[in-house]
Amino acid sequence: MATATTQPDGTPGQELVGTQPPPETMTWPDTPKFRGFFAPSRIEADVYDLEVEGRIPPELSGAFYRAAADTQYPPRFPNDTYINGDGMIHMVRFDNGHADLKTKYVRTQRFQLERKARQALFGAYRNPYTDDPSVAGIDDGNANTSIIWHAGKLLALKEAALPYELDPVTLETKGVYDFSGQIPGRTFTAHPKHDPRTGELVAFAYNASGRPDKQIHIYEISAEGKVTRAQSFEVPYSSMVHDWLVTREHFVFTITPMIIDEEWMKHDEQFCLWDPNRDAYAAIIPREEGVSGIKWFRSERVMEGHSLNAWTDGDTLVGDHFVTKSGWFSQFPKTTVGLLPEEPPFLERWTFDLTQGAAHWDDATDIYRSEQLLTSPGDMPRVDPRVLMEKNRHAWVGGMIHEEPMCEIGPMGPPLNAIIHRDDSTGQQTHWSAGEHAAPEEPVFVPKSAEADEGEGYLLTLVGRRDEMRHDMVILDALDIAAGPIATVKIPFRLRYGFHGTWVPASELAK
Ligand SMILES: [Fe+2]
Repeated sequence: MATATTQPDGTPGQELVGTQPPPETMTWPDTPKFRGFFAPSRIEADVYDLEVEGRIPPELSGAFYRAAADTQYPPRFPNDTYINGDGMIHMVRFDNGHADLKTKYVRTQRFQLERKARQALFGAYRNPYTDDPSVAGIDDGNANTSIIWHAGKLLALKEAALPYELDPVTLETKGVYDFSGQIPGRTFTAHPKHDPRTGELVAFAYNASGRPDKQIHIYEISAEGKVTRAQSFEVPYSSMVHDWLVTREHFVFTITPMIIDEEWMKHDEQFCLWDPNRDAYAAIIPREEGVSGIKWFRSERVMEGHSLNAWTDGDTLVGDHFVTKSGWFSQFPKTTVGLLPEEPPFLERWTFDLTQGAAHWDDATDIYRSEQLLTSPGDMPRVDPRVLMEKNRHAWVGGMIHEEPMCEIGPMGPPLNAIIHRDDSTGQQTHWSAGEHAAPEEPVFVPKSAEADEGEGYLLTLVGRRDEMRHDMVILDALDIAAGPIATVKIPFRLRYGFHGTWVPASELAK
């Protein structure tokens, strides 16, 4: 069905190809993304004193926050990507061995408009040509990807829009947060990084104009929340840039061809598509000098999933991150050359010789060294945040270990089935399997104390219990995950599969 309206590029009265009418009934599509364990949960709840197996370490005092996509209304495009769901925040508050749960939707502008209309008004993921005309020009940000704590503020993030500030105790939405007007664009990454040495937050934005463009903006934000530097650089094409690598001395962007094309979006609902005929690059920017010192390298044609960590050592830069040799086909299956098989993400170490590289991507001929760090595929990596941007010893990732029980494929592709610990000093890896019918999600590291050595702490991980239609939160000893949970916090209902979380100590919340 087609609808006439004003298009996002200002063209009046054209037909919107592929625009769907809203579903006539309040029924979820009968597709794997909306069925069974992956149906929207939509439960906003307070549960005090969750049941606990084992004993929660009393020093675990603070709040775990996690962002998830929990679709409020049946989507206008039944096969739309899972990541278009509305932001739901899951908070587990730990206090003296007790754990309380709170779940709440982020009241984005989109959420409120759709709730008022009692139906979906926004169409396919980040494609305004598929939106109801009544929401033309309104950001479709749904604050569903990650959640951070900076300068005393809790911010829910989505790379398609600006952050939303939330109350850290009630999870009430305070509104869009543009760092008091210091961020001029319409977008902000879901993967900013905290510099543990300075307390700064470094961040980037792509398509900050709100439409596909070829600029990437970089922001440096002080521990107090003041933007101390904003700069931008040009890339060869507009593409999805979900994460990046940051060292104390450098920013690294992997620019690979998950293309975002305005003309394509006018004819097809899918936001971006993989183009295996385009070249791929890595751009390295010295933090002190800024974008005038950019160096371009050739890259393998891979899509960066999530970064673990990176560091600079003299003329060498090392970056550890998950990459797939395909695009992100479980979410964006159409490519410029038809359907292609999806490759799983592997943790790779890329080593760059900083004496090489070119000032412009057209001249980029040098390539880095790459090596695979783990034998199993995976995603959702973490280090102790106190060693981010410098060489780390310990790493934890969600793994897909073939020898362990594996759940059926989920809405984001093959599910994780284990947490893996890798010791970089030995290359050894150990793991904890979640068991039958269980899929862990991203681990969040909490140090035992501010003075504890790197890695001395706990991993908090939500685990979907598919046979019981509910979740647990497991607490693992980060340096002995194979021993199994120290404590299992039992959540009496099913959360919708989520993405990234963070830990905020009680001492911070008290401020
Ligand atoms: Fe992410």
